[in-house]
Amino acid sequence: MNVMESEIPAIAQLVRELCGVALDKTKAYLIDSRLGCLVEEYGFPSFADFCRAARADQILKNKIIDAITTQETLFFRDKSPFEALQHKMIPELIDFKAGTIHSKRIRIWSAACSTGQETYSIAMVLCELLPDIASWDINILGTDISNEALTQASLGRYSDYAIERGMTATMLAKYFIKERDGYRVKDQIRSLVRFDRCNLIKPFNGIGPFDVIFCRNVAIYFDEEVKCDLFNRLADRLLPKGWLVVGSSESLTGIDPRFVPQHHCRAVIYQPNWKRVPVMV
Ligand SMILES: C[S@@+](CC[C@H](N)C(=O)[O-])C[C@H]1O[C@@H](n2cnc3c(N)ncnc32)[C@H](O)[C@@H]1O
Repeated sequence: MNVMESEIPAIAQLVRELCGVALDKTKAYLIDSRLGCLVEEYGFPSFADFCRAARADQILKNKIIDAITTQETLFFRDKSPFEALQHKMIPELIDFKAGTIHSKRIRIWSAACSTGQETYSIAMVLCELLPDIASWDINILGTDISNEALTQASLGRYSDYAIERGMTATMLAKYFIKERDGYRVKDQIRSLVRFDRCNLIKPFNGIGPFDVIFCRNVAIYFDEEVKCDLFNRLADRLLPKGWLVVGSSESLTGIDPRFVPQHHCRAVIYQPNWKRVPVMV
């Protein structure tokens, strides 16, 4: 079923409220291709009826979220952020924490982790960097809004195709077990990671704080207002000397003046400028 132009504002408003994804009449093709089959599956005569019903139906809301969000991801996506994690962020954090009561504690958040490849890539980098990893207090949290994506992430099972996209032969041999129809992440990696649902446009109650936050390739779907609000709240979830990593096509310039870009290992990574944080009295 195809959406009528007059129905788009109501659909766009609902989707924005549910997950922050920005739609307008230039995205009619996306509404048709992602939501059209849901409208038909539920037997609604029009998108307008579908939209009205969804407002009072949590199951339908979750289906809309799963359908309208883009779960594209791969292991070690863009490579350079993971090199910066290994050679810059973690070594500096370890130095900074040395001698404190939390000298062996590392907290990392893979926000909008999709099916988990980013989260497990982070865990593999830490295993490579810390040969005595069992003696460290490490917690890598992967969150997403999509229940379907999180279920897959939690399983830690990947098809041959998913593995071919980004995984090196060395890492595959070290950190995965071959199964009949793909590969499974070894328990050594799985034990560093946990997954939970988090909608990035809602308050982060009880989440964090973190040493490093990866929030990549999700804010590109939001409008400026939602984006600004998100990065502002992420800054508040970072520990001192903490880092924020965004997608390779994303920039925080003009979005949040607190974040200062730094170039390391061909990646642009961000740290809040603590001196410029206004003092609350
Ligand atoms: C393109 S994937 C990016 C995955 C990974 N970060 C990467 O860069 O490879 C975008 C993810 O953002 C999630 N997402 C979209 N809106 C969200 C929201 N409001 N809160 C949390 N996750 C959201 C989607 O479900 C999807 O899994």
